[in-house]
Amino acid sequence: MKVAILGLGVVGRGVYDILANDFKDITVKYIFDKDDNKTKDVKHLLAESYEQIINDREVEVVIELIGGKNVAYDFIVKAIKNHKNVVTANKALISERFKELNELAKKYNVKLLYEASVAGAVILIDPLKKIREINQINKIEGILNGSTNYILSKVFLEGVELKEAISNAYKLGYLETGSDDDMNGLDSLRKVNILSMLSYKTFLKEEDILRISLLSLNEKFINYVKDKGCFIKYIAQSEVRNNRLSIKVEPLVIGSQSIFANINYEENIVNIFGKYHLKQSFVGQGAGRYPTASAVIYDLLTIKSIANECFEFNKIYQVNNNDERYHFLIQTFDKIYKSKLMTYGELQRKKDIIFFSRIEEGLYEKL
Ligand SMILES: NC(=O)c1ccc[n+]([C@@H]2O[C@H](COP(=O)([O-])OP(=O)(O)OC[C@H]3O[C@@H](n4cnc5c(N)ncnc54)[C@H](OP(=O)(O)O)[C@@H]3O)[C@@H](O)[C@H]2O)c1
Repeated sequence: MKVAILGLGVVGRGVYDILANDFKDITVKYIFDKDDNKTKDVKHLLAESYEQIINDREVEVVIELIGGKNVAYDFIVKAIKNHKNVVTANKALISERFKELNELAKKYNVKLLYEASVAGAVILIDPLKKIREINQINKIEGILNGSTNYILSKVFLEGVELKEAISNAYKLGYLETGSDDDMNGLDSLRKVNILSMLSYKTFLKEEDILRISLLSLNEKFINYVKDKGCFIKYIAQSEVRNNRLSIKVEPLVIGSQSIFANINYEENIVNIFGKYHLKQSFVGQGAGRYPTASAVIYDLLTIKSIANECFEFNKIYQVNNNDERYHFLIQTFDKIYKSKLMTYGELQRKKDIIFFSRIEEGLYEKL
């Protein structure tokens, strides 16, 4: 099988290395990257133009690892229209254009696979497509962003100040300079969106997802939670109940007994709940060169081995995040207090809130 890699950055280089070392029957025929420094050792593989790649009948798979929503989108669409299978790790694009790109791939009878787009190394999307056929999935919850989990772990487990933990995360490359997508919840939102559309066989819009940012989390709030022996985790969750879907990304105050308390630093977890199989957990490294590259390779193997799949997205749900009542821990300018049971809508009408977090069930008395 011959493939082309677009983008030889963190993940692209990982894919190239693994294929070169371990897969003699998958050949990288072209590499396409605008940064000459990254491609010095593979000059012989550089494509003259993108057209050269899509016009080459030998190329079966275009692996898009450029990222972003503009160039990557154009390249993916062109690849599909030229009857190439596409593998990508691009959660931003897949989340936003899930319907359009899936339908396009179906129309041109090619595969569009994106195993690496959620939870990095954790092979989750392919199993999920099968699990949902045998077990009506009704809830997904998890820690889907390794960068914020790293920061919260530093703060709560090592006593590092929030600012310092954030600066460590930048230094280690866990947080991207100039982007707030991790701290403001967009990254988790995209991932829970993809998982939810797949699990519930429906199309969802990003703007319908409730997203509580971590950007205004602060020492005072953290210390209050710490003093009570509790932790904060950044949780993505969606649930179908009575034909209604709630879907959100939010901080959650948890106790030490919570399953999330054991998921620390860059680790991710996804719990899946269904009708017959009550709970299933997927845990593993959520990002990084080789972990993510291995999920890309998984998709290549899928294309090599399995006939084209075809899923129907034929259900419609009314998205509603405002029926459920919760207890919240609320910080205003002069105090931190526990709320009565209230909906997100009621909470958001309150004034002068600096930060708030939903309180895990059963933890109200402790706080
Ligand atoms: N890094 C991770 O751990 C991780 C985990 C899961 C998913 N992902 C996803 O994987 C994708 C790639 O991420 P990454 O971290 O590998 O990114 P990256 O290191 O920035 O690599 C992207 C590469 O593409 C090049 N590029 C940008 N625009 C281009 C263009 N128009 N034509 C040709 N090449 C172009 C970049 O060059 P310049 O540097 O010159 O811009 C860079 O070499 C993203 O969608 C990301 O969300 C990453």
